[in-house]
Amino acid sequence: MIKIENLYRSFDGNEVFRGISLEIMKGEVLALIGRSGCGKSVLLKHVSGLMKPEKGRVVVDGREMDMVRGRNLTSLRDRLGFLFQGGALFDSMNVFENVAFPLKEKTKLSDKRIQARVFEELENVGLSGSEYKYPSQISGGMVKRAALARALVGDPEIMLFDEPTTGLDPVTGHAIIELIDSCHRRLHFTGIIVTHEISKVFGIVDRVAMLHEGVVWAEGTPSEFSSFEDPVVRTFVGDSTISKGGMHEKI
Ligand SMILES: Nc1ncnc2c1ncn2[C@@H]1O[C@H](COP(=O)(O)OP(=O)(O)OP(=O)(O)O)[C@@H](O)[C@H]1O
Ligand SMILES: [Mg+2]
Repeated sequence: MIKIENLYRSFDGNEVFRGISLEIMKGEVLALIGRSGCGKSVLLKHVSGLMKPEKGRVVVDGREMDMVRGRNLTSLRDRLGFLFQGGALFDSMNVFENVAFPLKEKTKLSDKRIQARVFEELENVGLSGSEYKYPSQISGGMVKRAALARALVGDPEIMLFDEPTTGLDPVTGHAIIELIDSCHRRLHFTGIIVTHEISKVFGIVDRVAMLHEGVVWAEGTPSEFSSFEDPVVRTFVGDSTISKGGMHEKI
């Protein structure tokens, strides 16, 4: 579903990617980890077509992002949901208007249909009753839930989550990860979750890829990751043994 082939990218002489190759199958969820500044957000921007590769290819559902233009790019982007780092909402719009925004922009649905869809999605993320509150009137966890609803409201086939739990307390963060997992079970999207919350996220993903020094340094299932002996992986992941379906931390 998503294929990244030998991707190179640098900014002002700073080589962020030196040949990234990664494949994510349809319906699979991948955790993307690595130190701050290693290029996780930049990689998601390449997958969504917001950034173009200097060298190499990003192929989404059989189409090379760099070659897709105009209406085809719009229709490909419409199938993709992006929860940005920071999960920002539009401050001048209430929760309902924020979640309705992509439907109003991208679809020809009637106001009544949009309302029904938005209410349904807000219920799914546990925000019923907060529809008419403004971002400044709700907690950080609720902002993330609303941003998640906005990303999911168009029924995306691909979901990109950039640090969905940053800034949240551990309990709220865990609730967001569980919400992402339940949304995945319901919608079966193909997903990438960028995260530093290794212990929580390893419990819900199929595979993990770690970026380091401009390449995919290590790749495998969460349980394989827990047993990799590579010192870079060990330093980063710590002494935890975690696998899909259950978290068994040894720390
Ligand atoms: N638009 C840009 N212009 C110039 N440099 C950029 C741009 N976007 C990213 N970079 C640089 O690319 C590198 C990777 O940035 P990126 O935001 O992808 O890191 P990250 O892995 O997401 O980090 P974090 O975990 O802190 O979010 C950084 O050195 C950053 O300064
Ligand atoms: Mg980032």
